[in-house]
Amino acid sequence: REQGPLAGRTVLVTAGGTREAIDPVRYLGNRSSGKMGFAIAAAAADLGAKVTLVTTATPPADVASRVDVVMVESARAMREKVLEAEPDLLVMAAAVADFRPSEAATSKIKKTHGTGDDSAPVITLVRNPDILAEAVAQRDAKADSEARRRVIVGFAAETGDADGDVLFHARAKLARKGCDVLVANEVGDGVTFGQDESTAHLLRADSDEVVTVGPAPKSHIAAAVVDLAASIFTTQ
Ligand code: C5P
Repeated sequence: REQGPLAGRTVLVTAGGTREAIDPVRYLGNRSSGKMGFAIAAAAADLGAKVTLVTTATPPADVASRVDVVMVESARAMREKVLEAEPDLLVMAAAVADFRPSEAATSKIKKTHGTGDDSAPVITLVRNPDILAEAVAQRDAKADSEARRRVIVGFAAETGDADGDVLFHARAKLARKGCDVLVANEVGDGVTFGQDESTAHLLRADSDEVVTVGPAPKSHIAAAVVDLAASIFTTQ
């Protein structure tokens, strides 16, 4: 039997950057490594939760051995897994592409040879669904107390020159997305993406207080995020 503050709770963590198909061999992607999501999944397992990791990137063996791993590629595939699960705690650590090619070519797009035609294809983009916002709406549409007890955590990768900027945008994003907690990271210039250390600001919807963690290993930030989510369960 698992023990700990999240024993008996289901936790779903998304990780990595989504891949949006251009054709069978190419995709639009981003620089997310998945490390933050892996660390969150491990931290939730440490607290006794039953964890599902919905990820585009392969987790290390020490994480994979302790959680259910569901590999996905696109935002739409990730959305399906998230919305069908309705976990007690949802942590959207994945970098979900805001846009995808309007259609994926069914065969590899080729360049022309020797025709004098050196034109290039135009890729039209369309908006992807906002998984986090939809998960919040799905929860809030359910009047039963089970659904209201669910906790949803979003992430924000903000590029800002000053912390004030980052926090300002993060507070606005927390309100806009309607989640309970927002974890704001500063990104850009090799900061955060792919790194083992980062600085995170933890904002919660029911308080103006901000907890800043780091610069610290992602495992440390992950533990702080999961502790905060666990404390919301115990106080509600
Ligand atoms: O709006 P922005 O992309 O900055 O929000 C980031 C948060 O929203 C992250 O938690 C990310 O996983 C989530 N997100 C999402 N679906 C999208 C875009 C972002 O769930 N299409």
